[in-house]
Amino acid sequence: MKITVVGAGAVGASCAEYIALKNFAGEVVLLDIKEGYAEGKAMDLMQTASLNGFDTKIVGTTSDYSKTSDSDIVVITSGIPRKPGMTREELIGINAGIVKTVSSSLIEYSPSTIMIVVSNPMDTMTYLVHKTTTLPKNKIIGMGGALDSARFKYRLAEALGAPISDVDGLVIGGHSDKGMVPLIRMATRNSVPVTKFISRERLEQVMEDTKVGGATLTKLLGTSAWYAPGAAVSGMVQSIACDQKKMFPCSTLLEGEYGLNDICIGVPVILGKNGIEKIVEIDLTDSEKEHINRSAEGVSKTNGLLEF
Ligand code: 2OP
Repeated sequence: MKITVVGAGAVGASCAEYIALKNFAGEVVLLDIKEGYAEGKAMDLMQTASLNGFDTKIVGTTSDYSKTSDSDIVVITSGIPRKPGMTREELIGINAGIVKTVSSSLIEYSPSTIMIVVSNPMDTMTYLVHKTTTLPKNKIIGMGGALDSARFKYRLAEALGAPISDVDGLVIGGHSDKGMVPLIRMATRNSVPVTKFISRERLEQVMEDTKVGGATLTKLLGTSAWYAPGAAVSGMVQSIACDQKKMFPCSTLLEGEYGLNDICIGVPVILGKNGIEKIVEIDLTDSEKEHINRSAEGVSKTNGLLEF
């Protein structure tokens, strides 16, 4: 199993590390445009192998896409991250060009790969890959909902005073500060609805904190987060690589599902060896439908800024 991660910055390197620690991949190639940077990160990570007990071979390369040949899965994290006060959508001007170039370079050497898009604005970047490459839609997957759901569970556990392992929750919709749709109605504490334990007001706060989870960290860190994004990607990669059939909320091209067309937005999907094995259509309340439709309007507006 060969996996390529493009972008050896904080997110990409965390992703590579978590994939290696899970020890299911034979090789991880880390690629960056900055001279020697990916090579250095790969070497540093490899020097943890004996300490952390993994056999995955991590190789770094500066812009040599031939090293990524025949990758089963590729992850695009390259592009500029947010600065405090920025929205993800404001990154489109620079990141669209990067994602377009990177995705076509990856496919040139791995024509049948499965591609995970992380670069922001992620839903629009995922849509861009559909429009500018020949990959089938089951092989183009946007990572946002897995991260947002992890933040949702963190905030729910905080409100419940419960261990995270007792909490489950799902966030669908666009990966944007205003567009996320945390499904409070379906969130549980060990199968019991969280509404049993937490007041409506507190749940509203949990939802708001979830939506700005990325921005909150960007304010604290001065740049975008990396541990949770890297971990979210590694879980998706593992489900594909090991054909686990896990269900994640992922940005995927909708063609009528949820009443939406020609848009990439976060909905529950089953991830297995073929990438997106199935789009899961869950029943939504009228209010939830309204929220995801509004979220889709926001994503479509950002898509409209793309120049093909
Ligand atoms: C985040 O929310 C980077 O979009 C990513 O942290």
